[in-house]
Amino acid sequence: MIQLPERLAGFLLAAGPGFMPERASSVAEGVDQVFGFLFWLSAFFLALIVALTVIFVVRYRSRPGRRDPEPSPDHDNRLEVLWSAIPLALVFVIFALSTKVYLAMTELDPGASPLRVQVTGRKWSWWFDHAGGKGANQLHLVAGRPTELVLASTDVIHSLYVPEFRLKQDAVPGRFTKMVFTPTRPGTYPILCAEYCGTNHSTMLSSAVVHPDQASYDAWAAEGGKAGETLVQLGERVFNEKGCSACHSVDGSGGIGPSVKGLWGRQEKLVGGTTVLVDENYVRESIVKPGAKVADGYDDIMPPTPLDDREIQGVVTYIQSLKEGT
Ligand code: CUA
Repeated sequence: MIQLPERLAGFLLAAGPGFMPERASSVAEGVDQVFGFLFWLSAFFLALIVALTVIFVVRYRSRPGRRDPEPSPDHDNRLEVLWSAIPLALVFVIFALSTKVYLAMTELDPGASPLRVQVTGRKWSWWFDHAGGKGANQLHLVAGRPTELVLASTDVIHSLYVPEFRLKQDAVPGRFTKMVFTPTRPGTYPILCAEYCGTNHSTMLSSAVVHPDQASYDAWAAEGGKAGETLVQLGERVFNEKGCSACHSVDGSGGIGPSVKGLWGRQEKLVGGTTVLVDENYVRESIVKPGAKVADGYDDIMPPTPLDDREIQGVVTYIQSLKEGT
């Protein structure tokens, strides 16, 4: 059990052990620091304002023989500037601190090869398609390995929340969102849904299993063999069955549309001279609204292709696999 002194110490740090859950990801410490700063800043101003209120109420209360207001200055430019500039400076400090932490949650180190997991939120459970094809209702990760979760939802907005990772990200229907971090401690941590999504929102639970090393993860991923169709296989099937392969080659050869080989993660030149990063959301847009961003050198002739979210996830991972072999 947690003892009081430890709880107290945790409270004084506003983020220490015993008060907050343990820190199990690369971004947890930064989040705690921002939280601690906000907490103590707020506590300071609360104390200051309450203390001044009490002092003024006592000092300037109505007393016998003192019924009229005393003459006092009604304006002071120095004071106005001071109490505007100090809060403004503090707000900029908060902005800088929290932006730094936020960017660490959204941007992968260039060149890092992440463990990528496709996460699907649905009423009312989570589903995780791991790199290599294993699907599970639990999230499996490797301690020390950079991780990228790509979130989708098949119905309403859900939110993946892991308190020990200090991470929360909405899963939004019709687009992909991302969460980037490195788990730091092996263990099993609860996953919650943090966006009210209907009747069984509160039971939309799962867990994140952080393996101590890659070998342990690989052993789990190999368990039970390859039962059923993996997400990548589904993507490949959809790619062929829905006619994508008629115009887009997978071996780099030319066609009516650009080849999808080596496409993933590239800056693609568009008609009109701009470029776009080929990521999950660009692939989705190119499937459901092909005319929105047409690759340079090609005609705007592709018809919108009605794929459901899982099929789009499949095509995305298939295109990734043609680049990375994962
Ligand atoms: Cu899903 Cu709340």
